Amino acid sequence: MGLIDKRELNGGNNPLIVAIDLPDRDCALRIVERLSGHVSMFKVGMELFYAEGPRIVEDLHSMGVEVFLDLKFHDIPNTVENAVRQLGRLQPAMMTVHAQGGLPMMTRAAAASKEKADANGFRPLILAITLLTSIDERTLREDMMISASPAEYVVDMSRLSQSAGIDGVVASPREARLIRLECGDDFLIVTPGVRPSWYAHGDQMRVATPAEAIAAGADCIVVGRPITRAVDPLDAALRILDEIHGRAGACACEAHPC
Ligand code: C5P
Repeated sequence: MGLIDKRELNGGNNPLIVAIDLPDRDCALRIVERLSGHVSMFKVGMELFYAEGPRIVEDLHSMGVEVFLDLKFHDIPNTVENAVRQLGRLQPAMMTVHAQGGLPMMTRAAAASKEKADANGFRPLILAITLLTSIDERTLREDMMISASPAEYVVDMSRLSQSAGIDGVVASPREARLIRLECGDDFLIVTPGVRPSWYAHGDQMRVATPAEAIAAGADCIVVGRPITRAVDPLDAALRILDEIHGRAGACACEAHPC
């Protein structure tokens, strides 16, 4: 399985990453089988990875799909560097660390991923989490005692990540435009907190629609429950792609005859 190149991702036509936050392998593989070939990659987070271990990444690779391994490392630099080195052996397309872990931690994570480059220069990309999309302005100010606004904080964290050699950030679509201005076109911006107009926000606070996220400068969007909890996950994914490509409102059956 070849690793994804950032240029390919940036220029790719399919920006949809599906978060398969599911309790076990069988549930996950059923959804992947249904969506494979229609979305750009699958995001494995803590729930599924801790349930199934590294073999879930191998299983997904053997189905021919790319994996975004989102375990959000946040520890001392030495521990995170070695975690990146260990998980890099599984050759995920992307992995995550928390920007709040600081500059030395991110620098060592970025360097460890670069050691994993294959003969073609493909390697796992490292993304930094700027601020969880479930955290709103009040939580930031009153619970976390951070006086910056979410936008200021996210842009600061993006700048710090870029100076550490990190490939891009995970951020709310609401901050994508500012990050793009600050960090330039080569910096990858991946946005969760995306909610199609037909789905409730749930625990995501700083949300936008798929089309708004892409228009704001996101390279890829991450969508979980609106797809994985849909009666027909493929129909939900195709409706999201329609919305991104300006075909919102079109009947899903017309666009994709069933
Ligand atoms: O189900 P939903 O669409 O809310 O899933 C969003 C996914 O993106 C989850 O897997 C969550 O862990 C992840 N995520 C997020 N906010 C961040 C970083 C990652 O929601 N800042």
